[in-house]
Amino acid sequence: MADENHPDKPTEFSQSRNSDPAKYLHGIGIAKMSIPDIYQDSSVLAANAIYELIDRDKLLPAEIARIDIATETGVDESKPVAAYVHGMLEQKFGKGSFKRTSGVEYKFACVSTADALESSLDWAWAGRSNGRCSIVCSTDIAKYPLNTPGESTQGAGAVALLIKENPRLLAFDNVIGTYMEDEDDFWRPLFSTTAVVHGKHSEKCYLKAMEGAVDNWAEQAISSGLVSPGPGESLIDQFGPMSFHVPYPKMAEKGFAYLLRHFWRGLSRWDEIVKKIGIEPKPAGFKKRGEFEKAESDYMRQFMETSRFQAEYNDKVAEGLIHARESGNSYSASEKSCLSMLLETKARKDADLVGKRGGSGNYGSGSKAKASSWIIQEEWKTVAKGFGHLEKLHHRRPVSLAEYEALHEGRPLPEARRFVSEPENEFVLIDVTAEGYRHYKFAD
Ligand code: HMG
Repeated sequence: MADENHPDKPTEFSQSRNSDPAKYLHGIGIAKMSIPDIYQDSSVLAANAIYELIDRDKLLPAEIARIDIATETGVDESKPVAAYVHGMLEQKFGKGSFKRTSGVEYKFACVSTADALESSLDWAWAGRSNGRCSIVCSTDIAKYPLNTPGESTQGAGAVALLIKENPRLLAFDNVIGTYMEDEDDFWRPLFSTTAVVHGKHSEKCYLKAMEGAVDNWAEQAISSGLVSPGPGESLIDQFGPMSFHVPYPKMAEKGFAYLLRHFWRGLSRWDEIVKKIGIEPKPAGFKKRGEFEKAESDYMRQFMETSRFQAEYNDKVAEGLIHARESGNSYSASEKSCLSMLLETKARKDADLVGKRGGSGNYGSGSKAKASSWIIQEEWKTVAKGFGHLEKLHHRRPVSLAEYEALHEGRPLPEARRFVSEPENEFVLIDVTAEGYRHYKFAD
């Protein structure tokens, strides 16, 4: 979409969309989007992520009590991705090897990962795990119609999370904040493979719900004594690394800025900000809604340029967003993919984070946000260094505009090729029958 080394140089994509690559890089924060090959659907992405996790952690099927899937781009109206994944894993581990492992599909736009995780945590906190672990896998393919504003925020990916007692990476706090409203910001009707979106409205819904969920987390965390900000302190000071749902990196950056404005008001550091950029615009000060929105957007930009904001953002959030800058929106998988990149980057820089509290903010259109927190564990660096994020991002190949549009529209590839890239050591979709049943295999 854009070349980081030559930000102003038009690309095949930007030219075809009559757009400026600098808009992708600086306005939205995206350089590349991931798109799946012919043989990849959301079940395949999930099975490959889960297989890698099981293999790397040397887990036995009998040790895994549940494999739950969070997705909004599942492959069937009735049969969950979890069942197809089960079948794929049994091809590798033996027929019946997962018969005592449960699985279900969770749907609530991008926030379903937080719901699936909450359910797994509740199950473990209720003492029902009996020494077994669970896996939550988020998998999605984000798709908007060609030539629409949403197109530049597409992406795809899956992330598998291992949930167990005595974790080596992060231990979740038993406090989860929620904010939910019925909204028409983004949806995908049953008849459509692409989402419908009210883009500008969706950005407002994201900010409002994220703030509401963090407020709800704060009420519970303060009343239970989990955190207690002292005089002159902000709630956000209690956190080290933070990650948010990333439909595109600029949105997560704005979400963080919105939270800082919310939690810094009334503190002496906010007086410094006001001295620099003036007071915040209020709707009552404007005759027209559009004028207020323009002033609010300008104020946000100025706040995000302050050195105070930049220092907090670079310390807590920025390093994780590289994942989304390089691959786009992966809906339910985006926050945890960015979180794992954040932790891996910090581990490689030898950051001292043991015992620090971090936070996750998830948003799903429709709409709901969830806020959760976790404590970084002793062995976090060893685990995080093993994620191999950059290798995975590099293990993709660029496609031409013609290849991209053919994949997007489900049309034959140029030169009647069967796929863009030869599969290697991964699960693949081999066919979909006339009745809509899917067959998968492991391609060695
Ligand atoms: P758009 O019309 O393509 O973009 O829509 P724009 O013209 O508003 O430009 C975007 C930004 O780039 C603006 O900055 C421009 O000023 C700037 P802002 O005012 O926002 O700060 N810009 C430039 N900067 C530098 N150089 C340039 C230049 N040109 C412009 N040359 C939009 C953008 C994100 C709305 C669109 O892509 C879209 O609709 N995307 C899909 C919806 C979406 O991602 N919404 C986010 C919140 S909802 C959510 O997160 C849930 C979701 O993940 C789904 C789920 O839950 O399942 C989507």
